[in-house]
Amino acid sequence: MAPGNRVLLIISGGIAAYKSLELIRLLKKSGIDVSPVMTPSAAEFVTPLSVSALSGEKVYTSLFDLTDEAEMGHIQLSRVADLVVVAPATAHLMARAAQGQADDLATTVLLATDTPVLMAPAMNVRMWDHPATQRNCEQLVRDGVQFVGPNKGSMACGEYGSGRMAEPSEICQAVQARLTTGPLTGKKIVVTSGPTHEPIDPVRYIANRSSGAQGTALAVALRDLGADVTFVTGPADVAPPQGVRVVSVQTAFEMQLAVSEALPADAAIFAAAVSDFRIAQPNSSKIKKDGDAAPQLEFALNPDILAGIAQLQDGRPGLVVGFAAETDDVIAHATAKRSRKGCDWIVANDVRPDTGIMGGTENAVTLITASGSESWPRMSKTAVAQALAQRIADTLSE
Ligand code: C5P
Repeated sequence: MAPGNRVLLIISGGIAAYKSLELIRLLKKSGIDVSPVMTPSAAEFVTPLSVSALSGEKVYTSLFDLTDEAEMGHIQLSRVADLVVVAPATAHLMARAAQGQADDLATTVLLATDTPVLMAPAMNVRMWDHPATQRNCEQLVRDGVQFVGPNKGSMACGEYGSGRMAEPSEICQAVQARLTTGPLTGKKIVVTSGPTHEPIDPVRYIANRSSGAQGTALAVALRDLGADVTFVTGPADVAPPQGVRVVSVQTAFEMQLAVSEALPADAAIFAAAVSDFRIAQPNSSKIKKDGDAAPQLEFALNPDILAGIAQLQDGRPGLVVGFAAETDDVIAHATAKRSRKGCDWIVANDVRPDTGIMGGTENAVTLITASGSESWPRMSKTAVAQALAQRIADTLSE
């Protein structure tokens, strides 16, 4: 068995289980071996015989199958793979995994494994939206699980919304990304991205024009070099990448908490356009128009997440990188910002409206480090991300 080449695929019992057959086919086609585990209810949707035929492997279903325990105990089964994939992950399986239950082979394997876990949820939209499922999902993310999907679409139950399992090709892509080895393999990197939304009242908020494109491209480039990426994103226009741990937040405070929960890390890259201010006391109900009088809003300063992490006495990531969007004297301002915040590098860019950079597909950056500044030619945000990721890999390997 080649290293980095085997997934343990847990199929739980939802109608989307039929798609796991296609997933097995795609994984095998990409040269990835599949050890299948099925819950008893999954076997009601697809037969273990089909799963075994497509994977070319024995299908494990029961914790109490003594022959299997003799040949391969559940602990060993949980360690045979480089990645555990749960597809589909039902609401019930997610709930049990979030609680650390071990009442069947699938949940016992999930509890016993020290291998990264990728889950592809699949359920009815109301089940997905239910606060209990969202809580379980947040708990699983905190426990280190990565998610792929769910997508929005029409469902087997006739409803429309979020909860549809990601397509087998998307899951396969996320698996490949997770199994990729490169110069950043084994390195944990936190990336912040997108804008933050600071509430004024339940329906209004302060935001900015950040699309999240540069942060997303950076997460992809780091992932492609093998990094284990935690992507903390505000409400961005661009969809978050597959194969990274996504933590979605709204406000600067939530972003700060998510970043600190993602530590320790080898590097932290702050590409988010965090709102510097919030409304001191957001209204609990919608602010009503009151004749001709405009409401008076009182602002409060948000925490500087980057500065907080860069100045940590204990547990500071080895490399802390900030971004600086400036409209004049870019290098001078960004150099001053680097020392004020205490970060190692600042990636500075000129975001005057005539540059088309904010919200656009290209970027022209100047990298400011302890040894000076280096201006890069204007290129796509993807190319900037790849060059930066390579520079990060070189620095972390020094
Ligand atoms: O001070 P300024 O907003 O220009 O700094 C930009 C850099 O600081 C970016 O890397 C941004 O992600 C980070 N930042 C932060 N928390 C804030 C404000 C900015 O992490 N409250």
